Amino acid sequence: RDRRPIIAIDGPAGAGKSTIARQVAQNLGLLYLDTGAMYRAVTWLVQQAGIALTDEPAILELVSDCEIRFDSSLGGSPSEKVYSGSAGGSGRVTYLEKGIGNPSQIFINNQNVTEAIRSLEVTSQVSAIASLGAVRQKLVEQQRLWGKQGGLVAEGRDIGTHVFPDADLKIFLTASVEERAKRRQRDYFAQSSHASQTLPSTEQLEQAIRQRDYTDSNREIAPLQKSPEAIEIITDNLSIKEVTHKIIALYESTVLSLN
Ligand code: CDP
Ligand code: CDP
Repeated sequence: RDRRPIIAIDGPAGAGKSTIARQVAQNLGLLYLDTGAMYRAVTWLVQQAGIALTDEPAILELVSDCEIRFDSSLGGSPSEKVYSGSAGGSGRVTYLEKGIGNPSQIFINNQNVTEAIRSLEVTSQVSAIASLGAVRQKLVEQQRLWGKQGGLVAEGRDIGTHVFPDADLKIFLTASVEERAKRRQRDYFAQSSHASQTLPSTEQLEQAIRQRDYTDSNREIAPLQKSPEAIEIITDNLSIKEVTHKIIALYESTVLSLN
């Protein structure tokens, strides 16, 4: 193979994808790519521009020349990698390598939206934006550019099925809706930035997760699906550490044993 390994992690909201993908990447010295953050950033941009969800041409125009960048240099160690590039995959795309690290901040058109993209407004509309073919095409193009040389753990809904179908290891992470809603509620309580907002109840979170699962799994383009090659891990009764170790063990027994 002429590229470094790629690990694809897919699954529904609250399955533990972000947390676990980040840890696996750190442990294996790979980059971490949060594709959900990209769909969230675009949703934030559409909302800021005051564009209606039904105005597809305006959304596409906005997305076609937006620039998304992941950057860990803020608050991180100086020896970290940075991804940047326009979502359109034009000549402005760059891949800056500054050593091993894990991007933690996301910028869209030079605005740091790391916290803003976690708002309830963004969460409630992201699936609708993510079902638009033109939006997906732009973001997938960018993801593939970043993944060209491999060396990453990419996490989302369509990574193993569509973005990187030849990934070296495909994982499908899941858990019951009840467990995932409980986890989300704990996240909300822990986030100080939500303290001023009314926190959603477990029932509201369950309902919102069910709705998002449904939209993501039933959209026409690249729906959330377990790829036939993917190894499913049900995480209801597993700790973050246990899941991380499981994936690293799978990586060692499959990918590394081939080399
Ligand atoms: O973190 P959480 O599971 O809540 O969601 P996320 O990974 O941030 O993704 C937010 C939304 O983006 C999902 O509900 C999908 O609608 C969309 N998404 C997608 O369509 N394809 C991906 N590869 C990643 C996310
Ligand atoms: O990215 P995704 O929406 O799939 O999930 P996440 O944001 O990584 O995880 C949601 C929450 O569940 C986080 O607070 C994790 O720490 C927690 N979690 C857990 O308690 N046990 C696991 N096995 C995995 C995640």
